[in-house]
Amino acid sequence: MESVLYKLVILLSYVVYIRAASRPHIIFMVSDDLGWNDVGWHNSHIGSYYLTKFAREGVTLNSSYMQPICSPSRGSFLSGYYPFHTGLQHGIISDSQPKYLPSNFTLLPEKLKELGYATHMVGKWHLGFCDWQYTPNHRGFDSFMGYYSGAEDYYTHQSGRGYDFRFNDDIHHAPAGEYSTETYTKRLMDIIHQHDPQNQPLFLYVAYQNVHSPLQVPQHYEDLHSHIPNANRRSFTGMVNAMDDSFGNITAALKAGGYWDNLLIIFTSDNGGAITEGGNNWPLRGNKGTLWEGGTRVPGFVYSPTLLAKTGYTNSEMIHAVDWFPTILTAAGGITDHHMDGISQWDMLQHGTHSARTEFVYNIDDISGNAAIRVGDYKLITGNGGVRNDWYPVNGHIHHHHHTTTSGSTSPQLFNLRDDPTEHHDISSQHPDIVSNLEAKLANYRKTQMTAQNPDQIQHILHQYNNVWTPGWC
Ligand SMILES: *[C@@H]1O[C@H](CO)[C@@H](O)[C@H](O)[C@H]1NC(C)=O
Ligand SMILES: *[C@@H]1O[C@H](CO)[C@@H](O)[C@H](O)[C@H]1NC(C)=O
Ligand SMILES: *[C@@H]1O[C@H](CO)[C@@H](O)[C@H](O)[C@H]1NC(C)=O
Repeated sequence: MESVLYKLVILLSYVVYIRAASRPHIIFMVSDDLGWNDVGWHNSHIGSYYLTKFAREGVTLNSSYMQPICSPSRGSFLSGYYPFHTGLQHGIISDSQPKYLPSNFTLLPEKLKELGYATHMVGKWHLGFCDWQYTPNHRGFDSFMGYYSGAEDYYTHQSGRGYDFRFNDDIHHAPAGEYSTETYTKRLMDIIHQHDPQNQPLFLYVAYQNVHSPLQVPQHYEDLHSHIPNANRRSFTGMVNAMDDSFGNITAALKAGGYWDNLLIIFTSDNGGAITEGGNNWPLRGNKGTLWEGGTRVPGFVYSPTLLAKTGYTNSEMIHAVDWFPTILTAAGGITDHHMDGISQWDMLQHGTHSARTEFVYNIDDISGNAAIRVGDYKLITGNGGVRNDWYPVNGHIHHHHHTTTSGSTSPQLFNLRDDPTEHHDISSQHPDIVSNLEAKLANYRKTQMTAQNPDQIQHILHQYNNVWTPGWC
């Protein structure tokens, strides 16, 4: 009996070892505020050489959705739950707001650690920092270099009135005058070089600062685009190049470092482009922060030298932010929890089959009253969709066209996204049956919602911490 048990234990540990050794290295890269029309594979005026090459050689995502803004998107893909189930459905997390992704949600890096992964993060967190328990090192990351909040200066790391830059739990100071993308690239190179890819699978969450405002970039990147008349667009396009070079450096290091035969790279934006800050979503409707396609349908791709059975094509299957958690977990050989909102799309991505979902919720915001849902080809928007509801060409002037009757509209609008992906034709009056069907579905989702977290900002926090954004006040 004892010897049978012993053999079983040996066998099991061997199986576990083989499984661990075969788990793929996974690089999950998220660009901040990169619009639909801001990538080389949608717009030939954008110089994203490496990203475009990998998108074309991999699987280009043509129907990949995020939330309209940053914190909700990041909460969705790291937890696998919609923001209306985590309380993050209204607005971002402001510097001095005691608001966070609640700690009873298990994050993706925690699950990957259980599978034996080394887990590292660089870049923007934006999921709360009023207590240490909400910060990256305490939510599954072995290491973190980056910032807790959003929209900080790329050189000084000032966010609002406070300093916001950390290496793990410690305040960090990068070399004076160094652009953050350079700092992150160096850190990523160190991780890639120090890790042993034959011994342990690696998960890297690369949450690039680019291309969010402020519009800052080393001059030589901006000079590549001296022909662009609009100063915002010129800097912005250079910022895409800076990120692209970082991507080129990282992929070269992964190749040279022995990761290549068992590697999965996912690249996505976190929401649509901000047209007042150099971004663009043409021909899609709307802006960052809106429920329109321009705010939520994002550029992205999946690449692997060996793991994808079908590559070099454009995938138009529906995939939502919440799906990345179970998709990555499945690719890693883990077991997904069927209660979560996300559904694994690994089979769809690996084999080019159909999406595992037929519907998703764009958002339900109980404070603004805006909500939207997609079922099959149909999309229903209730409320006004957000601010900036029009179509904005790259060189157009940004103003509100008064011929659109939709701003401030409260009656539901219905679109058929297969026939009308740019949302020009509200067909709600022709299809009252579809409208009520989608409204009923939304109402069902509403029943399960967690109240939006919207606490007042706490004044004078910074004074307690020498003007450095620091956890410890909630
Ligand atoms: C987390 O807690 C909230 C209540 O605060 C609850 O509504 C939610 O279902 C919990 N989620 C998980 C995944 O445990
Ligand atoms: C990344 O590559 C570029 C050239 O493409 C090089 O100029 C730059 O120094 C590299 N950065 C790092 C941090 O290795
Ligand atoms: C991408 O999606 C659009 C609909 O939004 C569709 O018209 C287009 O054909 C798709 N591209 C490819 C290559 O399938």
